[in-house]
Amino acid sequence: MSCAMLRHALALLLALLWKGPSSAQAAEFGHLPDNITVLEGESVVLRCKIDEEVTHKAWLNRSNILFTGTDKWSLDSRVSLVNNNNSDFSIKIEQVMVADEGPYTCSFQARNQPRTAHVYLIVQVPARIVNISQDTSVNEGDDVNLFCLAVGRPEPTITWKDFKYDLMNEGEFLEITEIKRHQAEEFECITNNGVAPPDTRRVKVTVNYPPVITEVKNMPAQLGKTAILRCEAMAVPTASFEWYRDDRMPVESDNTLKIKNEKTRSLLLFTNVTEKHFGNYTCFASNRLGASNASMLLFRKAGCDVTGRERGQLLNLYRMCTGPGAVYGGAVSLNGRLSGVGLWFCLSISVLMKV
Ligand SMILES: *[C@@H]1O[C@H](CO)[C@@H](O)[C@H](O)[C@H]1NC(C)=O
Ligand SMILES: *[C@@H]1O[C@H](CO)[C@@H](O)[C@H](O)[C@H]1NC(C)=O
Ligand SMILES: *[C@@H]1O[C@H](CO)[C@@H](O)[C@H](O)[C@H]1NC(C)=O
Ligand SMILES: *[C@@H]1O[C@H](CO)[C@@H](O)[C@H](O)[C@H]1NC(C)=O
Ligand SMILES: *[C@@H]1O[C@H](CO)[C@@H](O)[C@H](O)[C@H]1NC(C)=O
Ligand SMILES: *[C@@H]1O[C@H](CO)[C@@H](O)[C@H](O)[C@H]1NC(C)=O
Ligand SMILES: *[C@@H]1O[C@H](CO)[C@@H](O)[C@H](O)[C@H]1NC(C)=O
Repeated sequence: MSCAMLRHALALLLALLWKGPSSAQAAEFGHLPDNITVLEGESVVLRCKIDEEVTHKAWLNRSNILFTGTDKWSLDSRVSLVNNNNSDFSIKIEQVMVADEGPYTCSFQARNQPRTAHVYLIVQVPARIVNISQDTSVNEGDDVNLFCLAVGRPEPTITWKDFKYDLMNEGEFLEITEIKRHQAEEFECITNNGVAPPDTRRVKVTVNYPPVITEVKNMPAQLGKTAILRCEAMAVPTASFEWYRDDRMPVESDNTLKIKNEKTRSLLLFTNVTEKHFGNYTCFASNRLGASNASMLLFRKAGCDVTGRERGQLLNLYRMCTGPGAVYGGAVSLNGRLSGVGLWFCLSISVLMKV
């Protein structure tokens, strides 16, 4: 290594190790974050730390002077000086707006050397849904297009989920082609940019379809008793019901028959079944999308119709069979040789009593 090279290396080393006031200054400014992040609407303080004597100092927004020393140049009332002494020259911006985002510069002169420190103000805005499809009602088989518009800084993500919270789509739009009745539900739009909790809104999609009668049953009935015929129908909008007899005669309410219409079903309530009530009934369910019908029978119940008096006699026999000390086993053993017949007798009565 030549002497000249050695001298150069030494000079370089010294230059690196020697921390004069100005390089200390630079190190001090190096402590300022390059980026300062603030939420829209909040306040932020921009600090400039100085540890040497300075003659002039200023804060700039891009190339516009905000303050020189204590002199305010900015006309913006949100900007103020929070500290000005030999070691600290700081300004405050209140109710930060998106337009405030950008480079800010602290500029000063020490020993006739101009120096600067830069910060970059980043203004964040929580993700927020600004417009979304209204709740909608469509017919089965239609195509459905939903939208969800969101704003935020940084740019938010938008996702659509269904009620099971399964992802349907990423992006502003949700398209469902030929929607089926089981797809009627609330869809949720979620927007997020990590600045604040996600914003969510829901859109309800109603799918209309014609009535489908789901349950009809032939019903047994006994004279003098009550009976019910049911007609259940799924439909959107809800179906309206009509009833007809064999001969297509409309069924009408009277003192022994009531028609009770509920949301998803219609009931024929027979309060006292008589001979004329037995027959074939047709339930007719309709809404503006269509109609459906189904028929069912009210038929005479097989087996004996027990009168009140017969019922009283049966009850006495039943007590004999089941009363204290006369359980099935007892009755059977008391009768001794008639045990088989006794058992049959008591069992028959039990069955009849449940009629
Ligand atoms: C400051 O923000 C910009 C983007 O706005 C980024 O590229 C840069 O890396 C950030 N600097 C620091 C030190 O975080
Ligand atoms: C300048 O102001 C800051 C903040 O109020 C304070 O901490 C610091 O001691 C002050 N420095 C001098 C030299 O007055
Ligand atoms: C910074 O400059 C921008 C662009 O001129 C301006 O819109 C904004 O209001 C300024 N902000 C402050 C705090 O001076
Ligand atoms: C939302 O979007 C719809 C459809 O594009 C539009 O008609 C409506 O004016 C928007 N509403 C608002 C508040 O922007
Ligand atoms: C049912 O109708 C029959 C014949 O009309 C009548 O004799 C009977 O009392 C009625 N029963 C009831 C519980 O109303
Ligand atoms: C009941 O009436 C409907 C309609 O009139 C008919 O289609 C059906 O066959 C009838 N059921 C019986 C068991 O008679
Ligand atoms: C009842 O439904 C059948 C098909 O199930 C249809 O052919 C018939 O026309 C319907 N009756 C009425 C009165 O709508």
